[in-house]
Amino acid sequence: MFKRFRRKRVNETLRNLVKETVLTKNDFIYPLFVKEGTGIKNEISSMPGVFQMSIDEILKECAYIRTIGLNSIILFAIPDLKDSIGSECLCEHSIISRTVKAIKKEFPDMFVVTDLCFCEYTDHGHCGILDENSTVNNDATLEISAQQALIHAKAGVDMIAPSGMMDGIIEALRTTLDSNGYENLPIMAYSTKFASAYYGPFRDVAESAPSKGDRKMYQMDPANRLEAIEESLEDERQGADILMVKPALAYLDVIREIRNASKLPLAVYNVSGEYAMLQAGKKAGIIDYERVMMETLLSFKRAGADIIITYHAKEACEILNKQ
Ligand code: PBG
Ligand code: ZN
Repeated sequence: MFKRFRRKRVNETLRNLVKETVLTKNDFIYPLFVKEGTGIKNEISSMPGVFQMSIDEILKECAYIRTIGLNSIILFAIPDLKDSIGSECLCEHSIISRTVKAIKKEFPDMFVVTDLCFCEYTDHGHCGILDENSTVNNDATLEISAQQALIHAKAGVDMIAPSGMMDGIIEALRTTLDSNGYENLPIMAYSTKFASAYYGPFRDVAESAPSKGDRKMYQMDPANRLEAIEESLEDERQGADILMVKPALAYLDVIREIRNASKLPLAVYNVSGEYAMLQAGKKAGIIDYERVMMETLLSFKRAGADIIITYHAKEACEILNKQ
């Protein structure tokens, strides 16, 4: 019998020698949600293990994740005050600035990324300013996005990640950052972001569901493969340092295509709905949660991702530490 495949699977050492893809603790960025107050740690019912936390609790969380070798986070804020233009995130006292400063003060070498958008800060829940017909005004949103970027930069963030899918956002942010002395601050673009039902649980955590309408006017149609590649290549042309595909699991084909089309580092966002499904499967006792999780995360790397933004980051690092 022809044994050309089986003879390389005979023992674990040989299997490891011929392994093509590995997950490491350096691959992950862990999302954290900050809320006003002290001593607050509210678990999200659809996302066990994911919390809204006040700054003091965020600091405790950072202290813990560093002990397991997880050193990169992405921050989302849930402000107390929301209005039509998201003014909370445009002042130097914003909850996100205070959080970044607190983290960088206590853990200067922690790599802190901020999500840059308006949906958490606006009372209507859209990712920018609305015009008379209740559609997001692209160019007006670019202006306030640049202001928000400077607030994050001044607070000492290590990388900004604009997630609102406005046209021209990367060029607008790069120009503003460069002309204000932040030439060394990298931008990770949410370059190919689909209008996805998989964001449902996130909108509960971030309290950011649009009060009316949806995001189909600015986020991508899940049906479009060629446009998905163009979206990322356009952000590359505008000066993005890292590209991203979001969500991850239902878009592995798109991850691979963008990997092949660009030489920039590529991130994927393993989103809230993907996490919630695995957690629900675990609770129902129908899957081996840890193995399914690690297999899922590995699939992102096999598809071509360099960086995985995931709510599983902590659990994955704990498992990798045991291996
Ligand atoms: C904000 C933003 C969203 C996510 C990340 N940044 C929500 C959205 O676009 O509706 C989703 C993350 C997740 O589902 O885990 N623009
Ligand atoms: Zn948004």
